[in-house]
Amino acid sequence: MASVTAASPVVAQPGHDPGSHDAARPRGVVPIVAFANQKGGVGKTTTAVNTAVSLAQRGYRILLIDADPQGNATSSLGIDKLTVGRSIYDVLVDRLPLSEAIESTDRPGLDLVASTPTLAGAEIELVEAGGRETRLRDALAGLLPRYDIVLIDCPPSLGLLTVNALTAARSVVVPIQCEFLALEGLGQLMTTVDLVKRGLNPPLDVTGVLMTMFDARTRLSAHVVAEVRRYFPHRMFGTVVPRSVRLAEAPSYGQAIVEYDPSSRGAEAYEAFVNELTTRLHLPPRPRPVRESTEGDHP
Ligand SMILES: Nc1ncnc2c1ncn2[C@@H]1O[C@H](COP(=O)(O)OP(=O)(O)OP(=O)(O)O)[C@@H](O)[C@H]1O
Ligand SMILES: [Mg+2]
Repeated sequence: MASVTAASPVVAQPGHDPGSHDAARPRGVVPIVAFANQKGGVGKTTTAVNTAVSLAQRGYRILLIDADPQGNATSSLGIDKLTVGRSIYDVLVDRLPLSEAIESTDRPGLDLVASTPTLAGAEIELVEAGGRETRLRDALAGLLPRYDIVLIDCPPSLGLLTVNALTAARSVVVPIQCEFLALEGLGQLMTTVDLVKRGLNPPLDVTGVLMTMFDARTRLSAHVVAEVRRYFPHRMFGTVVPRSVRLAEAPSYGQAIVEYDPSSRGAEAYEAFVNELTTRLHLPPRPRPVRESTEGDHP
């Protein structure tokens, strides 16, 4: 079988993993997690949305920021990106207060800052703008006390939108698809994370690497997991998300997998991932919200 890594300078090199995913945070600091990988279609949005909804069901207050002009996180939550009013574009380009761009979702505890296709222009419009890398961080500053955690879904690029996300975040989660050339481009991502960490955001850390779309029937999937583990021996999440039709179907119903099919393998995997993530981020447990139930009403 051909190696899953290409002999190219943009491939992550072994040893790039310093072995710490110490997301320990000073008391009161709200974790801000960016889901990033400039490779397209690796599961960034699926992971961000399912994490957000799962955390909301656990009683956390979450802000999900859709920082991708494709607006897939927005539509995955059942919100029509063509009809949203204010969006992340207005925040980044026109410095609209973030609080005015929040869309409520019908999930208790889960707020969204939506994206619209206009965001595609932001990369160019911001080029000459002052504080262009820190606009999201600045916008978030006053709003953090409202939330237990902020999640940012990044676009498949390493441009200004991803740099804004990495500058605002304390934590990066890197979804990697169990496919050929999975590691390609990861070197660039890690270099970008290092540059942002050194220049703009010292607390930034890679909290973990999540393998997605694992197909147990293929040797390739197992091979890719082994290869990625070699590069990130200390940072891989123990959970591996299986390839699952139910996971791919859920967004078309505007639902997360834990809503669409809570007993599916995909839902189980994302619940396990969220368990790991909350542990790594030291998120204190919150009481689950009381749900309407008729149980116990009968004499
Ligand atoms: N575990 C999975 N099993 C099957 N399909 C999946 C799984 N995870 C994601 N998908 C599907 O694969 C596609 C790409 O996933 P997703 O949109 O989450 O990736 P992405 O990294 O956000 O993509 P982009 O880079 O374009 O933003 C989507 O159609 C999604 O529904
Ligand atoms: Mg996406």
